[in-house]
Amino acid sequence: MASKKMALLAVAAGLLCMSALLNGAEASCGGFTASCQGPFSVTGSILSADCANDAGNFAFSSLDLNSFLSNDNGNLVEGNDYIATCTPEGFAPIGSSFFVYANCAQEDGTVVSASYDINNNVSNDNGVLSWHSC
Ligand SMILES: *[C@@H]1O[C@H](CO)[C@@H](O)[C@H](O)[C@H]1NC(C)=O
Repeated sequence: MASKKMALLAVAAGLLCMSALLNGAEASCGGFTASCQGPFSVTGSILSADCANDAGNFAFSSLDLNSFLSNDNGNLVEGNDYIATCTPEGFAPIGSSFFVYANCAQEDGTVVSASYDINNNVSNDNGVLSWHSC
């Protein structure tokens, strides 16, 4: 009997822990499209949206993606200053993804099309767009 109780407690603790993790992930590891609304825009490297704060009020927020993305031989990766060698080509919210597109130069000068799903990295922190690498 005692061991059954212990097992139940362990399961309950596990569930609490999991929900804390899930809430944490939601709050700080991307997913801005869930609590921000259009009109979304990416002008040059500046992402803009109307984002809800904790009180539920929407306000305009923007974030310069150029501080977080870099061009690695034609691929968008973690870093900065991608627009030095990439030309921004717009964006597309698709399902729970939010792709930004750019034409990026490879090391040999060939320009290729690159994209990055920033919804894994951009979150809405109390109405303010912010970048997190999780
Ligand atoms: C975005 O987040 C993922 C994990 O969620 C991480 O692996 C990746 O490095 C991040 N991207 C950038 C450009 O920081």
